[in-house]
Amino acid sequence: MKIAVIGSGYVGLVTGTCLAEVGHTVVCVDLDEHKIKMLRDAKSPIYEPGLEALIRQNVGHNRLSFTTILEDALKGAEVAFIAVGTPEGEDGSADLRFVRAVAKSIGEVCSGNLLTIVKSTVPVGTCDLVDNIIVETLKSRNAKHRVTVGSNPEFLKEGAAINDFLHPERIVAGVTNEQDADTLRELYTVFVIDDPSKLFIVDRRSSELIKYGSNSMLATRISFMNELARLCEKVGADIDSVRRGMGSDSRIGRKFLWAGPGYGGSCFPKDVAALIQTGDQYGVSMDILKSVTTANETQKKHSALKIINHFGGKLTGKTVAIWGLTFKPGTDDVRDSPALTIINMLLDTGAKVMAHDPQGQANFSREIGSKKNLSYVDAAYDAVQNADALVLITEWAEYKRPNFDRIGNLMRTKNIFDLRNQWSFSSTKKIGFHYECIGRNDDKILPMTNLK
Ligand SMILES: NC(=O)c1ccc[n+]([C@@H]2O[C@H](COP(=O)([O-])OP(=O)(O)OC[C@H]3O[C@@H](n4cnc5c(N)ncnc54)[C@H](O)[C@@H]3O)[C@@H](O)[C@H]2O)c1
Repeated sequence: MKIAVIGSGYVGLVTGTCLAEVGHTVVCVDLDEHKIKMLRDAKSPIYEPGLEALIRQNVGHNRLSFTTILEDALKGAEVAFIAVGTPEGEDGSADLRFVRAVAKSIGEVCSGNLLTIVKSTVPVGTCDLVDNIIVETLKSRNAKHRVTVGSNPEFLKEGAAINDFLHPERIVAGVTNEQDADTLRELYTVFVIDDPSKLFIVDRRSSELIKYGSNSMLATRISFMNELARLCEKVGADIDSVRRGMGSDSRIGRKFLWAGPGYGGSCFPKDVAALIQTGDQYGVSMDILKSVTTANETQKKHSALKIINHFGGKLTGKTVAIWGLTFKPGTDDVRDSPALTIINMLLDTGAKVMAHDPQGQANFSREIGSKKNLSYVDAAYDAVQNADALVLITEWAEYKRPNFDRIGNLMRTKNIFDLRNQWSFSSTKKIGFHYECIGRNDDKILPMTNLK
């Protein structure tokens, strides 16, 4: 099949590359000339494990190419994916500017029948909107092509995106007619050959809502566990034990129960906000999600306050080493990373911050902007040199088992704030560290008088 993918970011690029990998001829489009130039040289503009090798391979086999010109990409294409960004607008709703623009361009330049698939995460009803824009634009130039619109939200996880796309747990598609359903089956059955029932074909509105429902449910689990972790800190319980005990119940399951510094990334915060907005728009107040958002903001601040309070509320003259800036390991994506809130709070209370991240430093420095007291180092251990505190924000593999003796020798004062619960009281305390984490206590049993 000849396929166009419009928007060559984290989702579009992985989609296009994986579809080429199974034999389709794919043209990826982007407005960003620098991105397209890099891609034409078979270089990935984003960090995603395995992606660059797969791009190189498929470019080499002439199945994958790149352009800034939509008209060229649509020539002879049977299917076009829309995979542009849908960032959070000022009121929390999804900003559909890029989706609308692409729909209009498709109507203006498409030269044959086409199934347009909206892969971007979009609020309920957006496929209807895209449909209308394309139909009206075609009409205005008297074009008679049959252009239909389907929904196909993406569920890949950055850091594991290739595997998620090639071996999905499920694929969701929303269509309005049987012909489009058949095209989607033809496109996707290859990825669910082990169990074709993993491909759900539903109506467009349900498909759109499945994506928001899924991300909001996951964000809810995280916020709930973070709230429980804050309670654990007060009552002397251990969030890891609580997590294991809860997760053993098959009705609850073990995934997405990790306490940490709050969720972030390019999806959860904006998707929760957009679902709240959709609810408001239709008169259904999404009260649970409103609390989820508040709890997440509280958790980010709570994490920063652990450090600030330890030093008596002021960090003037203190140097804080940060390990990890991205919202999770395995990506260079820093959009809405908890590190942004935490580092800003540390800087605002007078700290000097030395930051390290294996992949995210360039994006982070662009996102947070230039800050007088924030600098970056290329090696993790350089960050802790003469530091008064080490804060672990993202659990990259290289941070998981550090040499605490070496860290202790390099630091000015030995304080560790482990916001991902990767280390233990025992391994850090024996070297003389003050150690704090999220929702775990140092084996101390609270006196009975505290237990009312
Ligand atoms: N990143 C993820 O992990 C993830 C996962 C699932 C779903 N999504 C959803 O997928 C969508 C895309 O997310 P992303 O992270 O890939 O975004 P991104 O910002 O990485 O990529 C979007 C790309 O679209 C390009 N673009 C914008 N307007 C264009 C136009 N008119 N023509 C051609 N290209 C254009 C931009 O230049 C950019 O390269 C969003 O709706 C997001 O919510 C993202």
